[in-house]
Amino acid sequence: MNAYEFNKIAGALLTALLTTMVIGFLGNALIHPKKLDKPVVVIEGVEAKADSAAAAAPAVLEPIAPLLRTANAEAGKNVFKQCAACHTPDKGGRNAVGPNLWDSVGNKKARTAGYAYSNALQAAAAKPAEEGQWGYERLNAFLANPKAEVPGTKMTFAGLRKAEDRANVIAYLRSLSDAPKPLP
Ligand code: HEC
Repeated sequence: MNAYEFNKIAGALLTALLTTMVIGFLGNALIHPKKLDKPVVVIEGVEAKADSAAAAAPAVLEPIAPLLRTANAEAGKNVFKQCAACHTPDKGGRNAVGPNLWDSVGNKKARTAGYAYSNALQAAAAKPAEEGQWGYERLNAFLANPKAEVPGTKMTFAGLRKAEDRANVIAYLRSLSDAPKPLP
């Protein structure tokens, strides 16, 4: 191979290289790729699974009605010791940290006169019919986990974990009335 031929080959390679580079630059300059905000292909089941896991998280509360049939108001009075730090049970009793609880069961929520309820509980009381009342199941849910039943309530009580305790204390609360409501 003489020098002339070598130059020809080198020149050809160089031209090819330059052409490729120029085309590359031109291509980038002319077309602006845009990244997608969302994937176009949704893979079935991936997100649905995450949703159902979240839905399964809150514990399902068993209805209290069957337990109320055998509940014991005397035992409930004992459970009420945990409530007495904030509530009085007697007719015309004073409001303390929490409202007096005379005649609450089966009546409208947030009805004790002279007590400054939270906006959350007042809003709950404004709901129509049974939603706005302390029926047995609503009371059960509230006493199990006040903040879950009425988000924003100012009753800072963790809740009664044992269904039996809730049934007994509800039986006791029911007895705090001149005319106790019928059992469910
Ligand atoms: C640390 C204080 C505290 C303890 C302990 C407590 N509560 Fe309360 N409770 C409150 C407050 C405060 C409110 C008012 C909530 C609001 O306005 O959001 C309330 C509200 C209530 C209501 C709603 C009354 C109404 O007029 O609508 C019931 C029923 C109730 N409590 C029952 C109980 C029972 C039963 C217990 C014991 C198992 C208990 N509470 C323990 C502070 C307490």
